[in-house]
Order: sequence, then C-alpha cells, then structure tokens
Amino acid sequence: MSRTDDIKRMRQLEQELDYHSQRYYVDNAPEISDFEFDALLRELQDLEATYPEDADPNSPTKRVGSDLTTEFESVEHRYPMQSLANTYSSEELGEWIDRIVKELGEVEFVTELKFDGTAISLCYENGALKRAVTRGDGRRGDDVTNNVRTITSVPLKLRGEGYPALFEIRGEIIMPYASFDRLNREREAAGEPLLANPRNAAAGTLKLQSSQTVAHRGLDCTLYHLAGDNLPYTTHAEMLSTARGWGFKISDHTAICRSREEVEKFIAYWDTERKALPYATDGVVIKVNSYAQQRTLGSTAKAPRWAVAYKFQAEKALTKLLSVDFQVGRTGAITPVANLEPVQLAGTVVKRASIHNADQIAQLDIRLGDMVYIEKGGEIIPKITGVEQSLRTSDSKPFEYITHCPECGSELVRFEGEAKHYCPNQSDCPPQIIGRIEHFVKRKAMDIEGLGGETIELLWQNGMLRDIADIYHLDPVQLASLPRLGEKSAANILEGVRRSKDVPFERVLFALGIRFVGETTAKYIATHFLSLDAIARASAEELAEAEEVGDKIARSITEYFADDNNRRIIESLREAGLKFDMEIKQPTSNALLGKSVVISGKFLGRSRDDMKALVEEHGGKNLAAVSANVDFIVAGENMGPAKRQKAEKLGVKILSEEEFMALIEGAKPIEREAVSEPETSAEAKPVQGTLF
Ligand code: IVH
Repeated sequence: MSRTDDIKRMRQLEQELDYHSQRYYVDNAPEISDFEFDALLRELQDLEATYPEDADPNSPTKRVGSDLTTEFESVEHRYPMQSLANTYSSEELGEWIDRIVKELGEVEFVTELKFDGTAISLCYENGALKRAVTRGDGRRGDDVTNNVRTITSVPLKLRGEGYPALFEIRGEIIMPYASFDRLNREREAAGEPLLANPRNAAAGTLKLQSSQTVAHRGLDCTLYHLAGDNLPYTTHAEMLSTARGWGFKISDHTAICRSREEVEKFIAYWDTERKALPYATDGVVIKVNSYAQQRTLGSTAKAPRWAVAYKFQAEKALTKLLSVDFQVGRTGAITPVANLEPVQLAGTVVKRASIHNADQIAQLDIRLGDMVYIEKGGEIIPKITGVEQSLRTSDSKPFEYITHCPECGSELVRFEGEAKHYCPNQSDCPPQIIGRIEHFVKRKAMDIEGLGGETIELLWQNGMLRDIADIYHLDPVQLASLPRLGEKSAANILEGVRRSKDVPFERVLFALGIRFVGETTAKYIATHFLSLDAIARASAEELAEAEEVGDKIARSITEYFADDNNRRIIESLREAGLKFDMEIKQPTSNALLGKSVVISGKFLGRSRDDMKALVEEHGGKNLAAVSANVDFIVAGENMGPAKRQKAEKLGVKILSEEEFMALIEGAKPIEREAVSEPETSAEAKPVQGTLF
C-alpha cells in the first residue's frame, strides 16, 4: 500500500474507533466485540508508529496513555470556573426558590445530581478536544489534557454538527465504585495505602504523571455546564440535550421542576435512589433553566445566583455490632475495630468499622450486640457514630476495654494527653516488629522493592527477620529456598536491599519508625542536626529547637535512643552502610548567604528543582511558603496569583528568572583553605558524623 493509502486508512480507523468508543462508553450499546475493537486499535497504532508525523493528537490510541511524565502547566480559564452556594436545609432551599420566583415571576428549574468527583473544563475547538483543565483556584487550573484523553467517555472529536467553533464544557471526573474498589484491592495487595473515597481517588488519578496508569484506573466523565460566547441556546435543558447529541456523556437523571414541591420531590426520590447508582453523588444541583433569567440573576464573586447545591445528609446504616478486635500497630498503638453484620453503605458492603479508642466506646456507651449507626467520613473504613438505644437488649453489659496486649500479653499503658492505649513491649511484640519492618521498607522510607507484607510475614515465620537490621543480613540461598519465593524474587529483594543503602539520611531517619516522627518531621530534624549521631546525642530541649518538634516528639526521640535494643539495631545498620549523615551541597559562592528564597512557577531553561539547587549552591536557603522571613521570590512563568498577592502585601521582592541569574552569575567563588581537591568542591559531600 502507498503512503497515501495508509494515511487514508489512518483517518478511517480514527473515525471507526471514535464511533465504536461512543457506542460502547457513552451510549452503552456496543456494535462490535472487544476483540474486534482491539484489532482496529492495534492496526492504527502500527500505522502511527510508521507515520508519527501524520498521527492525530486526538487519535483514539491516545486513550491508552503514555508513560511519559507530564509536568502540569498552569493555564488560565477563558471563563472563570465558579463554585456553587451550598445548603443542607430544605427550608433554606425553599427560601432560595421563593426569592427567585418573587423576583422573576414564572421560573423553570432544572434539577440534576451533584456528582461527587473533581471538576474539569474541556475546551473544544472546531469539534476537537484541545485542552482539559482542572478547576484549580477557579481562575487558573492545571492542564491535564493527556490524562483526560485516556478517559473513554470524553469525546476526542464531536459527532453531528452545529457545535460552536470554540467552547468550554464543564463537568465532573468521577471514579465509579467498581473502579474504586478494584483500585483499592490492587493497592491492598501491593501493600500500598488505600484511598479514602472515590472523590480523592479521581482527583489523585487526574494528577498522575503517567497517563498510561490513568488509562487503567477506569475514570468516567459526566458533563453539566457549557461556557462560550453568544451560545445559540435559550435554556440549560436545551443545551444539555444538544450537547448529548455531540457525543458528551450527560446524565439522564435530570428533571424540569416548576415549583418548590417538584424540586423537593426530586430530592426526596434521589436521596434514596442514589444508593443504587454505580457512582457517588452528594446532593442535587438546582439551576434556573432559562439563560435569559440566569443573566438577570447574575453572579456573586464566587458563585452564580441562578444555581444552588442541596447537599444530602451523609449516608448512614444501622447494623449489629458482633465483636471487637484489637489491632496492634507498629508503634504499639491499640486500635479497636468493630466487626459488624455486613450492611450496604454508600456503594459498598461494610463489615468493619473503626471505633478509635476506649474513650469513644465509653462516651457512646457502645456494647456488644448493640445496633449501631455507621457513617463514611473522609477515612477508609467507616466509623460508628451512635447506638440505637431503643433496640438494646435487657441483658447487655457495658463494654470492658482490654488491659493487656492481645498479641504479647504485656500490660497496656496510656501516655499523657494520648487517647490511645499502647503496648510498651516494643522489642518483643510481633505485630510491632513486623509493622516496623513494613514501615521501614515502604516506598517513602527505604523503598525496598519485593519486600511486601506477605514476604515479611514469611521471613518472620521462618525466623529470618527479627528486626529491621536483619534485612541487611539475609542469606541469598536461604531466601531463594523459601516457599513462593525462588531465585528471581530473592535476587530482586537483595537488589532492593543493596540499593536502599543509597537512600538519603532524612528518609533513613523516617524509616526507623520513631513514634511521632513522620516524613516531614524527619526532614526537619535531619536538616537541623545533619547526622543521626547528633540527634542521638541531643537532649529533649535541644531536639525541640528543630522546626515542627514539640515536647511529645522530642521525648519520643530521646526514649528511642535510650533503648539498648534500638542502639544495637542502629549500630548494625551503620555497619551495613546506611546513610546516617545529611548530604549537603558545599556552596560555591556566598552570593545568597543568609538569604531565604522562594522559587515559584515554571522557568524557561531549568526545572524548579534546578533553581532550588542554585539557591543552595550560592549559600541561600529555600523556603516553601511566602512569609515575612522571605528575602525574595523568584517568579517563573505561572506563579500562583495568591502567592503574588501575599508577596505584594508583605512587601517581599519578586525577581524574574533573568534577574536571579544575573544575581548569581557574577558571584565570586568561595576560596577554600587547604581543600585538597578543589575540583570536587561543587559536588555533594557528606558531612561527617561522630560516633555517639
Ligand atoms: S454546575 C456555574 N452541576 O459541585 C455552575 N456542578 O460545589 C457550575 N458539581 O464546582 C457548576 N455536580 O464541581 C454543577 N450537576 C452539577 C454538578 C456540579 C457536581 C460540582 C462542581 C462544582 C461543585 C460545587
């Protein structure tokens, strides 16, 4: 076939694939099998690989995503993205309706579901998707086009005709419950933290760097608002049905209501029926239908006056409390977890709920056998929010909280100001040790691939792991002989262990799992003290001088280093070659000595990290937030408007990239005395620690 034929075939395949995507994802009426669809897709992929310059940027093959990383560009919305006024009360909603009717006379309202996802604005030019931008601050958002292209219900090219040459259509990116459950199952199996709810999952997914991963996450997009100049529609309902004809996914669950009663009926219906929907909704949006009337009502600075969101009460379920388990975490903290008679709640079946601590059990007077109310909050597992006293049996007895660790039998302790009970047996209580090892290897800590929860459990059972230091003394032969492992996995683990020796000190400090020392606190402490030995030597008062460290954290650190077992583990880790010192760049000049700098926005020739490195190389300090302590800000292309405003208010100087470069370019290099290898002075050098 000639090149011309091939290109013709590419255009034909694009059209066919777009058509079948629409039939499948939007209309729910596929005409060909998945197998046939994949064959067409592969044919197009092959042709695009041969003629990359002729590939359409909106080709259906872009749906599968790419694993290239995308830095999100901040772009201005052509029309600001407003939010909605909220109400939880039907009286307030009634007053809003009455007010509008009084002002306008006869009014039609369109009622829609309020989708619980993350807002998106899609820009179409001549019927092709040009850009997809998140809400951001309403004026500017992140350009997430490559990720949104992978969402199969977003049309890359519009069908039909009559669409405006340029318009933005807005809606919600949602993660249906089925995708959300699958994602969390995968994360659980991989030992990754679970996502709290479909809304967070959708927002997080949209900001992933790999659109290939986005493509696998099963996002969906439903649209509900059009923005453009001189739109040829007279009502919102007309716009919705027209846009549906162009191929957009627009909810069928809408109604036209002519009175307060009709609106209330719609709300009452969906407050129950939404439980059967395959995605999360958190309310109903009520909009004035006529565009002319919308214009009369206008907008406030934040939200239109012609629309309001009525939020549903959080979904509740009533079920029986069967028993309570007590889980022991890696820090020894005891968490009671309720086992419930399985019950449907907000799209999933719930069998367990958290109760937090003993005080809460006492406060709510929760007893075994009670009928309890559960609700989903921002957390992963729902919580018990109350007891239905009227259904309590006469023989029920107050709950007796445990006094001893269910795993090792030690007597539990309670720290001042802490609601939780703790098992103090840090060195011998199995879930604490296993939990600490799991924490040590996780991605944000030592990032040892191949050592997941199951493998750690296996190594523990076989006596090969008793503490985190044992990880560096694993025997390759013994490892490979374990059931379910084999040579390949063993080699993979050992390679991960070897690579972990390069993990920077602040992450090693976090990995140790000192109670209350999280990722950010570890960074502050590491930067303040520069070495593990200095931290180990510091008194509680000295520790509290580091940023973010209060008395509680300081005491926890001194207790950690006072423990003989911990000191033994640390010595063993030192011998294994872990980094116990902060690597700092030796400044090459003093041009920015004593200066605190904020780097903000995108720069022409360098990444933000490169800019920050330059600040340090010239003796300056990088700060994240604008405050009166900042000497100047270097503003790139898209510095956030909030930051700029704050800087102006505080009188902090704003430099351009060129001004900043001019400031450091002529800087005199620091003359170092008796440095034997001056050519390496610009490289990273560890600060030497002293033994403790
Ligand atoms: S209309 C100018 N309709 O709720 C009007 N918003 O709390 C723009 N939302 O930012 C919004 N479902 O992200 C509209 N049917 C719906 C909606 C909806 C969900 C979201 C949207 C908005 C937020 C306000």
